[in-house]
Amino acid sequence: MNDLKHYLREVEDIFANEQFIAEPHELYEPIDYTLRLGGKRIRPTLLLAANALFGGTPSLVRGAALGIETFHNFTLLHDDLMDRSPLRRGQPTVYTKWGDNAAILSGDTMFALAWRYFLRQPTPRLQEILQCFNETAIEVCEGQQKDMNFETMALESVSITEYMEMIRQKTAVLLAGALKIGALYAGAPEKEVEKLYAFGIHLGLAFQLQDDLLDGYGDSAVFGKKTGQDIRDNKKSYLPLLALTVSSQGQQKELSQLFSSKDNMDEEEKVCRVMEIYNTIGLREKVERSIADEFALAKKSLDDIHADETLKTPFRELMDTLNGRKK
Ligand code: IPE
Ligand code: IPE
Ligand code: MG
Ligand code: MG
Ligand code: MG
Repeated sequence: MNDLKHYLREVEDIFANEQFIAEPHELYEPIDYTLRLGGKRIRPTLLLAANALFGGTPSLVRGAALGIETFHNFTLLHDDLMDRSPLRRGQPTVYTKWGDNAAILSGDTMFALAWRYFLRQPTPRLQEILQCFNETAIEVCEGQQKDMNFETMALESVSITEYMEMIRQKTAVLLAGALKIGALYAGAPEKEVEKLYAFGIHLGLAFQLQDDLLDGYGDSAVFGKKTGQDIRDNKKSYLPLLALTVSSQGQQKELSQLFSSKDNMDEEEKVCRVMEIYNTIGLREKVERSIADEFALAKKSLDDIHADETLKTPFRELMDTLNGRKK
């Protein structure tokens, strides 16, 4: 039985058999560090399971699985620099360990390495696959830019609709793209690929809402990232945006001020005050409801796909694992 564990093991095997260290050492050490630290490996797992769902050959998508995860890790190197995040996967981020330049150049190299891994295993649909990969990468950057633009915008000027579109781009399209690429390698029919993509989008939206929630309510030791960073960065994440819709006028005004403050306030005091407001209005439960709604939409999309039900098991298991995740 090819369950979720089977695909996770397959991904680990792919990484264990790959050499990331090369010369100059200063360029490749941060790459090796990042890729060896692991993380949840969700995107390559989705790619492999999507390939199997439509009868693909696992050995032919190892390069693509490596490529999609290397691209994801590249975005993290740049994202941590942009967000000034000190910690990831419980370890210092690349820019804190080796400096800003290392995060930029090792990150750039990882983007190019991702292409190399994809090109390693040619297939009749390679052009379509690489086009999907490239369009996905562009959308991730567009979403990332919107996320940065929101930092300097007033809280009340960002709508939840705009926020959802931003996270669709920065996060969801990569999960959906991984699924689509896996399915394309297997020669899946276009209609089914579309449904699988829709599943990936809902899964990705739920995943980013959870990430926003964990930034406020996670345990740093488990989550692996420093909590409260979205608040320090004035990120217009789902938490303050939803809070604005369910709080009093006084709280709205205070939240708006807190999320536009620069250096005029002690950062930890700011995090505490924001969390106090969240707790007063019962925000956590409300966000959890939105996450559950998005997971339900993901499940519905998965149900709609015409494929062997037993081969959908890893996706259902993944949703169960992610539901209520702590890291
Ligand atoms: C982190 O992604 C970036 C987001 C989209 C929230 P993951 O939470 O998948 O990171 P790792 O790879 O498991 O560390
Ligand atoms: C993740 O957004 C999106 C990308 C990396 C492109 P976040 O900035 O919320 O991710 P974390 O919380 O740092 O992992
Ligand atoms: Mg970040
Ligand atoms: Mg970010
Ligand atoms: Mg985050």
